[in-house]
Amino acid sequence: MTVGYATTQPNIAANRKNRFPPGPKGLPIAGMAMALRRDPLGGIREIAREYGDIVRFHVMTQERILLNHPDLINQVLVVQHSKFHKSELTRRVTARMLGNGLLISEGDFWRRQRRLAQPAFHRSRINDYAATMLEIAEARVGGWRDGEARNVAQEMTSLTLNIAVRTLFGATLPGEAEGVGQAMTFLMRYSLRRQRLPFRIPETWPTPNNLRANRELEFIGSLVYRIISERQAAGNSNGHKDLLALLMGAMDEDGSQMTLQQLHDETMTLFLAGHETTAQMLSWTWYALSQNPRVEARLHEEIDGVLGARPIEPADLQRLPYLQAVMNEVLRLFPPAYIMAREVVEPCEIGGYTMRPNATIIFSQWVMQRDPRFFDDPEAFRPERWQEGLMDRLPAGAYFPFGGGPRRCIGEGFALLEAAIVIATLAKRFRFQLASGAQIVPEPLVTLRPRHGIPMTLHARN
Ligand code: HEM
Repeated sequence: MTVGYATTQPNIAANRKNRFPPGPKGLPIAGMAMALRRDPLGGIREIAREYGDIVRFHVMTQERILLNHPDLINQVLVVQHSKFHKSELTRRVTARMLGNGLLISEGDFWRRQRRLAQPAFHRSRINDYAATMLEIAEARVGGWRDGEARNVAQEMTSLTLNIAVRTLFGATLPGEAEGVGQAMTFLMRYSLRRQRLPFRIPETWPTPNNLRANRELEFIGSLVYRIISERQAAGNSNGHKDLLALLMGAMDEDGSQMTLQQLHDETMTLFLAGHETTAQMLSWTWYALSQNPRVEARLHEEIDGVLGARPIEPADLQRLPYLQAVMNEVLRLFPPAYIMAREVVEPCEIGGYTMRPNATIIFSQWVMQRDPRFFDDPEAFRPERWQEGLMDRLPAGAYFPFGGGPRRCIGEGFALLEAAIVIATLAKRFRFQLASGAQIVPEPLVTLRPRHGIPMTLHARN
């Protein structure tokens, strides 16, 4: 493990001799925050390359520590997880959208809410969702024609939104998917831009951006309230077994129900987390396949061989190892959650350094999962690497598209089943060719998105 130091103030290593050059070569200290602001994906990789596995820097007066080694990341996510909370940074970017939902709540409240939602994500329950996932994927592909041009990123957002709303909340939102996609894009850009500005204009000022943010939030909020009130009107106990039924049926020990605000926050969190990340994973899959015809051909061969003309079902997944390898590889190179952050709440030691309360710890799937120390030829899209037992050889903390420890993604099994069903169903019928001249640029918003979508031409197979 190499250790770098990106500050002239060596107090982070009070227990160690400072063996780091005070003025790091290449990137001036003051330029570090600028580099991250200008090009977050390139900047964070450059810092990791230049300064090593544990790097301290400041953004304004805030202390940030970037970890670039699996052992250190595993310390934060798993071994010493109780000494960290979700970061203030994460809360600031997401709180207006998600309130105090599962993604950002803490302590006993988080534990209770997680326990409550967990049954909706048990393997047997997830398999029950498969038929709906398939039905929605088949309906979508049924509307496509040979030679048509489509923005595949938009298609995947509306597909995953419909799946999440039907399976988790037993509702439909006909015609609203596109609006949700656009609202999310605006809100993510808006929240991140605000964080990156040195002076923040108060949200209450009637600037055009603030006004639009309010409108978009109201739009998404109104959909969530509509889902809840339709269920209330229909009677929650009316045979529903989905996530919404679990949340609405939840009682505190003293018998009082979750407040409408809490119910709203949880529903909103699962509404957004339940479709946005999977949509990005699927979009990147079609892009990666279009750029790697050999992988695409091998995937088609496997899907055709195993499924023939019949639709996919959950039991097929273990018969489709190459499809699984393709999904692992997409999540490695294009992780929808590309960066994670924690705030130190209890002093602790990581990699021999003392972490002080309030410091923000950052680590990135984008950096770690492209690190040549752990992945041969890391920039290449090579699903075969996963068929050679890589998962078992990797140290914990080297590959973590779904996070790790107690806060690991609750929807992992749901997302992987959904992605497999959608990929197999669509790939059986169509090949996706990138529109000529299209420039696909990853945009690091709250999730990793293709900046201008992915314009593609659909080619019917057979
Ligand atoms: C490819 C798809 C997905 C990816 C890459 C992904 C990634 C992640 C990651 C990295 C975390 C951990 C965040 C942290 O610890 O700071 C997380 C948490 C979470 N995810 Fe996912 N996710 C995906 C799909 C889903 C789906 C489908 C759902 C719901 C249906 C979901 C709901 C959540 C929730 C509620 C949390 C917070 C869990 C907690 O803190 O207890 N995710 N996800």
